Amino acid sequence: MSATAVASASHPASGPSIDDLLRLASADMKAVDAFIRARMESPVAVIPALADHLIAAGGKRLRPLLTVAAARLAREGRGAGETAHKLAASVEFIHTATLLHDDVVDSSRLRRGKVAAHLIWGAPSSVLVGDFLFARAFELMVETGSMRALKILAGASRVIAEGEVLQLTRAHDIRLAQETYLEIILAKTAELFAAAAESGGVAAGGSEPQIAALRSYGLNLGLAFQLADDALDYAGSSEALGKNIGDDFREGKATLPLLLAVARAGEAETAFWERALGGTEQAEGDFRRARELVASTGALRDTLDLAADYARAAKTALGAFTPGEWRAALGALADFAVGRAA
Ligand code: IPE
Ligand code: IPE
Ligand code: MG
Ligand code: MG
Repeated sequence: MSATAVASASHPASGPSIDDLLRLASADMKAVDAFIRARMESPVAVIPALADHLIAAGGKRLRPLLTVAAARLAREGRGAGETAHKLAASVEFIHTATLLHDDVVDSSRLRRGKVAAHLIWGAPSSVLVGDFLFARAFELMVETGSMRALKILAGASRVIAEGEVLQLTRAHDIRLAQETYLEIILAKTAELFAAAAESGGVAAGGSEPQIAALRSYGLNLGLAFQLADDALDYAGSSEALGKNIGDDFREGKATLPLLLAVARAGEAETAFWERALGGTEQAEGDFRRARELVASTGALRDTLDLAADYARAAKTALGAFTPGEWRAALGALADFAVGRAA
């Protein structure tokens, strides 16, 4: 990719944006950030050092934004409240913990534009600090006294682990059923988006139909988000994403762009996919060829089309709420999930 292409990928001229949501939620997110900062502390120095490496790098904070926005929607814009802020912080802790674990599992070297924590502190510390952050998340949830929110987020934590393990057992399978792929991304990603939105609705005392609509919004948004992420692993830029593209291909992950390209392959291409994904050494230039094939077979386009279908379903779920700035901002978030470069 040329320098100009990289620059334009990091600064899309008019891509969908979450600026409105960030502006609306800025006071809430300050409160959420204060909980995150306070609760990553520990007298064991390596814990805050390692956690801060990842947390100070920022990240998009989409999941806590979802909790806060869901609470606001369910309360028609009135204050989200401390329960929602604590749940939002615990959602981000769960997410951060899964990233620490995931980068060890995926042997990823770059996260949020920085060297992955396991390459600095080692895999054992990375995994254990992930456990610490999970525990912090549960302490925060318990403090809210909401058994219902605790149940939602405990269930989501279990489902994420199931999704990650299921994915691991299906690596290198270039003929994985699309249904199984969808089951994996539902579990490893969409479930936490759903739980983030649902628990925000619960914190705000929303009605049952509202809470169900928020869950549906989050679930569909999460599917759209991961589908786009899987497309970006082939077509995005490492600079914009803050993680190395090609990780899925190198790890033999059977994501939708790959599965569609394999399904459309001729004899020579099939031999290529079998060799490159089969678990033996990849050759120099393999990823370049894979990128060309996912583009030329229309696999990338169709992956993003499916992401757009889920984003539409997410927006449809928002129909349960009266129109307003928060609802519009969540509609824009659904577009961002598909059209994003980062
Ligand atoms: C990364 O999520 C993990 C996936 C589900 C693809 P994000 O892209 O939301 O990560 P950060 O928090 O913004 O770094
Ligand atoms: C995303 O995993 C879901 C979790 C971290 C649980 P991926 O492995 O697909 O995401 P990236 O590409 O590392 O962010
Ligand atoms: Mg990963
Ligand atoms: Mg992974």
